[in-house]
Amino acid sequence: MNLAKFILTNLECILQEWEDFASTLEPLMNADKKELRDHAEAVLKVIAADLDTPQAEHESIAKSKGLGPQADDDTAAEIHAADRVAAGFTSEQVMAEYRALRSSVLRLWARQVEITSPADVEDMVRFNEAIDQALTESMARYAKMLREAQNLFLAILGHDVRTPLGAISMGAQVLLQDQSLPSKALKVGLRIFNSSKRMDAIVRDLLDFSTSHLGDGIPVDPYTVDLAEICQGVVEEARTFHPDRAIDMTMEGDLAGAWDGDRMAQAFSNLISNAIQHGRPNSVIKVAIRGLDDAVVYEVRNEAEVISPAKLRTLFDPVKRFAIRPPGERVASRIENLGLGLYVVKQIVTAHQGEMSVSSSKDDGVVFSARLPRITPHRRNDD
Ligand SMILES: Nc1ncnc2c1ncn2[C@@H]1O[C@H](COP(=O)(O)OP(=O)(O)O)[C@@H](O)[C@H]1O
Ligand SMILES: [Mg+2]
Repeated sequence: MNLAKFILTNLECILQEWEDFASTLEPLMNADKKELRDHAEAVLKVIAADLDTPQAEHESIAKSKGLGPQADDDTAAEIHAADRVAAGFTSEQVMAEYRALRSSVLRLWARQVEITSPADVEDMVRFNEAIDQALTESMARYAKMLREAQNLFLAILGHDVRTPLGAISMGAQVLLQDQSLPSKALKVGLRIFNSSKRMDAIVRDLLDFSTSHLGDGIPVDPYTVDLAEICQGVVEEARTFHPDRAIDMTMEGDLAGAWDGDRMAQAFSNLISNAIQHGRPNSVIKVAIRGLDDAVVYEVRNEAEVISPAKLRTLFDPVKRFAIRPPGERVASRIENLGLGLYVVKQIVTAHQGEMSVSSSKDDGVVFSARLPRITPHRRNDD
């Protein structure tokens, strides 16, 4: 009897064996027995049907790497994962279930059939591949659902925080316009205003970080803008908030083209706030924007301690930067900044098919540079 036929004729017995075995695995000990059984049956039927279909070698290799053909509808393994998330299973429990399934089927089969022929061995290899494929699908779906949930959570948090934040900043603005207030009150008002602006920028970066991780990066809407105007606006805003800092700006060439104006302002602003925040105090910050034939190059330069090559490599990737910290330094209280600013800048530049680079040396200081190719503008719906 081949393995496919064996699975279908012994389904009840396999499911019982599986249930017994699964409940001896640590992560599944306290799981509901009936729940353990539910989708296993569907997964097994899919595997049996798969074993009955002839398969070329390249398909077999693809499957063993978890790259099997994807149906449009959700597969049994994907539905299984969704159910497990809903039931509160951990990823270890989902993996343990597949281990249990694999071992129950193979053990029962070996007990009934003497595995001698090459066809039996081939069946066994294909069964293992099919289980791996199902496991890969389940784990991918499981991770995706958790990511989406976290993302939604962050989006709601961001939205909820931004509304009261807007009220704080508006209140501070009203105070700042009241000429009758003593200078001490005005100073406090200015501090409230600056801090709420900064918080809003952090929340915006956090939202961009979470949404860009869903796959498509940061959405941009390129239309014809003048980067000279945008750059000037950002520099002027920085000068207003930090009157004590010298910011030098040079502009040359044609700076009009198709980019997403709001996103460019966000990227420029992140780079300039970094220069203010991380550069040597009292040093001059140099901003330059040059229009070339095929691109615009935007550059922010400041004096600072030389950044080590290892740190330079992970500067645009906060998750990696966080992951390579020694465990003792991962506690929230020891991290001054989330470090999402540069990640967002890079995402914005990449979404415009541009490139971001950074260099750091004793003589030239730290230089961040964005090269933005001239891309074809598209008209906006409301044009
Ligand atoms: N202009 C700069 N000069 C020196 N160091 C910088 C500069 N910009 C960024 N950095 C370094 O890169 C890190 C990451 O920057 P960023 O992603 O904006 O996060 P954050 O500013 O929140 O720390 C900073 O913590 C800092 O160490
Ligand atoms: Mg920053």
